[in-house]
Amino acid sequence: MTIPPDAQDIAHFRALISIHLGLQIDDGYQDALAQLLRTRGALCGSVTRYFDHFADEAWLQSELPLLARELTVTETYFFRNTDQFAAFSELVLPRVLAAGSHACRILSAGCASGEEPYSLAIAASECFPDAEDLVEITALDINPIALSKAAQGRYSNWSLRDTPKAIKDKWFATDGSDYVLEAGARRAVRFAVGNLARENLTFWQPGRFDVVFCRNVLMYFCPEQARAAIDRITRVLVPGGYLFLGHAETLRGLSNDYDLCHTHGTFYYRRKAEPERYTVTLWDERPDAQRLSASAISNDASWVDVIQRSSERISTLTSAFDAPGAPTHTEAAKAEKPVPLDLTSALECVRGERYGDALRHIADLPTEHANDADVLLLKAVSLSHSGALDQAEAVCRELLARDGLNTGAQYVLAVCREAAGDVRGALEHDQAACYLDPTFAMPRLHLGLLARRQGDSVAAVRELSHAAHLLQREDPSRVLLFGGGFKREALVAMCRAHCDAMGVQA
Ligand SMILES: C[S@@+](CC[C@H](N)C(=O)[O-])C[C@H]1O[C@@H](n2cnc3c(N)ncnc32)[C@H](O)[C@@H]1O
Repeated sequence: MTIPPDAQDIAHFRALISIHLGLQIDDGYQDALAQLLRTRGALCGSVTRYFDHFADEAWLQSELPLLARELTVTETYFFRNTDQFAAFSELVLPRVLAAGSHACRILSAGCASGEEPYSLAIAASECFPDAEDLVEITALDINPIALSKAAQGRYSNWSLRDTPKAIKDKWFATDGSDYVLEAGARRAVRFAVGNLARENLTFWQPGRFDVVFCRNVLMYFCPEQARAAIDRITRVLVPGGYLFLGHAETLRGLSNDYDLCHTHGTFYYRRKAEPERYTVTLWDERPDAQRLSASAISNDASWVDVIQRSSERISTLTSAFDAPGAPTHTEAAKAEKPVPLDLTSALECVRGERYGDALRHIADLPTEHANDADVLLLKAVSLSHSGALDQAEAVCRELLARDGLNTGAQYVLAVCREAAGDVRGALEHDQAACYLDPTFAMPRLHLGLLARRQGDSVAAVRELSHAAHLLQREDPSRVLLFGGGFKREALVAMCRAHCDAMGVQA
């Protein structure tokens, strides 16, 4: 009889899963994980022996798909988030075809049982009905069960719940209660077992694809592995290539190598010409490093942490401000930086609504910090409150040119756009801020006010109620920077008062 795994074993197993599959297993799955480890360990004679096998590359090739079968979420359906397929077929595909002499090369990374890549094949064919071989789709997944279902091309009505009847009738034959996909769509897709969390220089070759769909996969990854997977995707995309993530996923905190774009009611990304980092991550292939890396991976880090971490810079601004006696961000950095950046005085002025003074402090900062993202954001906020909206907008655009995923700049730009009478522009930038950081309250509040001014009370109540909810937990630094001089309670009261005036309780 083998010794049952203890808490330390389970923690180590969890870390190995993160390293080799990218997955972050939540605390709620502790018992299921223990059971899985018990079963797998028993087959090797002991849990210790089982762990030792992780250093054996050949063994891993067969073990990882087995683990993936137990641990991955494979929920998917045809034309999931239809707007993304419209964006693909009406904008992205025509552009790619016009620019090149070859078929549009697409990677569906984390394709599950095939609904996503097949939807892409159908969408392409619907858009260009007279052309053949317009798309070459490589569909990758680690889960062998999902892939074998994909290869059959046979689906239930449930998989087609968001598929228009005309498409269903045209592309599927019925067989009993099943729907069998027509051969033309199947020909465009090539399935492959592959792991987004592992380096494979044969597969992840530079410039192999024009478009990548990687939707609802990275939301299950630990932050480190999500970053590494995005680095691989960046490598295989041509410069200017297109990346679609799931609706609840963003690149914030994961990569600066993309521009954020919006069309057909959806967001997507375009790879910049020259990525800032062009890395080949081999750390998971070094057996010696595995245990070290395993213990280095935090068990409780989550997708939300990625977002939190990426807003850390702004948080550090006010933690320095809020606790004057405590060692500051600036002091911690003294050892490495010849001239430290100290924004305490400028922030103090913002807190006192003395925006002119804040701008003077910013102007007096050492020149080497003039273009620091925190400095530019503080400058944009101060300029907008001083009425210098054109200048505030110029600073936001400068910031966004460097980091299109900077949510603060997106929000301040929305405020500037509204003041310039460009409501559509304001909506777009607010929506970008909300998409990039769903916890950011101020763009929601702004969207609510814009909707109310436009007479759309349904949208106004929805956004203002959401903003009131988010404000309760909003980071104090963001209330200070973006709250327009209002305290948290006053902003919540404002949302509620607007809702009351429209006859709804927030
Ligand atoms: C929720 S499904 C998403 C399917 C489809 N992309 C969609 O959005 O409808 C996630 C898929 O990612 C796959 N996956 C998870 N980890 C993976 C990894 N390390 N490498 C490749 N695929 C992975 C799972 O097996 C699963 O099929």
